[in-house]
Amino acid sequence: MRETTASRRLPARALWLALPLAAALASACKPDLPPGGYTAVSHRQTPATPEWSHPDPPPVTPGSAVGGGGAKIVAKNLPAGVTQAMVDQGQELFGQTCTACHGAGGAGSSVAPPLDDREWLHISGAYPELVTIINAGVANPKQFPGAMPPRGGGNFTPAQIGQIAAYVYALSQQGES
Ligand code: HEC
Repeated sequence: MRETTASRRLPARALWLALPLAAALASACKPDLPPGGYTAVSHRQTPATPEWSHPDPPPVTPGSAVGGGGAKIVAKNLPAGVTQAMVDQGQELFGQTCTACHGAGGAGSSVAPPLDDREWLHISGAYPELVTIINAGVANPKQFPGAMPPRGGGNFTPAQIGQIAAYVYALSQQGES
């Protein structure tokens, strides 16, 4: 008599144990998909935006209107023909393409060098050199494994390249007097 009760109870108990396990297994097989399902999953192996260390934000001038695009940098020692307005527009464009490799504020990353100092790998840092190298890209990198495509892979007009170069120039002059 006892035996039968025990053997009747056992399957019930085993079921209670098996249910959560089955649920856990089922959820493990269903990865959380982004809205849009598998079609929204990138085919890239590497993340589109490499990780970079979080740089200090560029200095903010008291009273300057700082919009959502981040603090504007105040350009110093601009060469003739390069204006603060170009630097501002260049900052915007830089954020669209160049930060992916060079990091926010040009602070550098594991795939591209910092642009916010006066140490250069390929150039001496003059404005015309910046225009040239941004246009051409860097087919043969000196320190980093991957190349830089022409215009960073972006679709910029010559005027926009001039603005981006103005921003990079201004970045490199930060901290200088
Ligand atoms: C795909 C990654 C990538 C993108 C996007 C990219 N760069 Fe580069 N950039 C590099 C690499 C790699 C180098 C060369 C590093 C080396 O020589 O080891 C480089 C070099 C440079 C240099 C020369 C630096 C030096 O020290 O001489 C400048 C200036 C520069 N990039 C500006 C830009 C600007 C401006 C943009 C956006 C229009 C941009 N890059 C977009 C990867 C990138």
